[in-house]
Amino acid sequence: MSLFVSFEGGEGCGKSTILKLLAAKLEKEGYGLVLTREPGGTPIAEQIRNVILDKANTKMDPRTEALLYAASRRQHLVEKIWPALKEGKIVLCDRFLDSSLAYQGVARGLGIDEVLNMNYFATEKTFPDLTLLFDLQPEIGLERIAENANREVNRLDLEKLSFHAKVRDAFHELARRFANRYVIIDASRSIEEVEAAAYQAIKERLAR
Ligand code: TYD
Repeated sequence: MSLFVSFEGGEGCGKSTILKLLAAKLEKEGYGLVLTREPGGTPIAEQIRNVILDKANTKMDPRTEALLYAASRRQHLVEKIWPALKEGKIVLCDRFLDSSLAYQGVARGLGIDEVLNMNYFATEKTFPDLTLLFDLQPEIGLERIAENANREVNRLDLEKLSFHAKVRDAFHELARRFANRYVIIDASRSIEEVEAAAYQAIKERLAR
């Protein structure tokens, strides 16, 4: 049985770390997995990622930004996500459509429905089966990033705290709107606890 799981949340919420830990665990159990991320995931999409996240691109218009994320998403779906789902794999994707709805739709002020409708052209209405929201106060997330010298700082990390607070509120709004696929995970706890909660959510969805 295929399953499409997206990992969402603000900066420093730990979702990428948890994704890798979960993948190792599920692989041991014999599941066929594909790990991927947005923006990026394929060579063309990674090239688009470099343009979007380049710190030098301070002049990027919000709609340009939204269109580039959608372009990268389209290529990622065609080359990687759709084929994997067809093969019955579990796809674990670090960010997907909801990041566009939260960051471009709400934090950049383009509107959730506007960004959603624009994305339909790219996604042909593909949604994740399950979206794990790693919920964390932005103050704590940004502190974690500052402490982690290995993590590259990108153009969106450099936004003000109020921007990241909007992103968090937006994800809560999306969790209410798409309650059938959202599971909210309190990401302020230890890695072990957060991983266990995410694991349980995936296993419950697989058992349905
Ligand atoms: P990345 O380095 O992958 O950060 P993170 O570890 O936080 O996932 O950078 C991705 C950035 O792009 C992140 O700031 C969120 C942003 N983003 C959007 O604004 N819209 C989108 O559609 C996606 C997929 C990401």
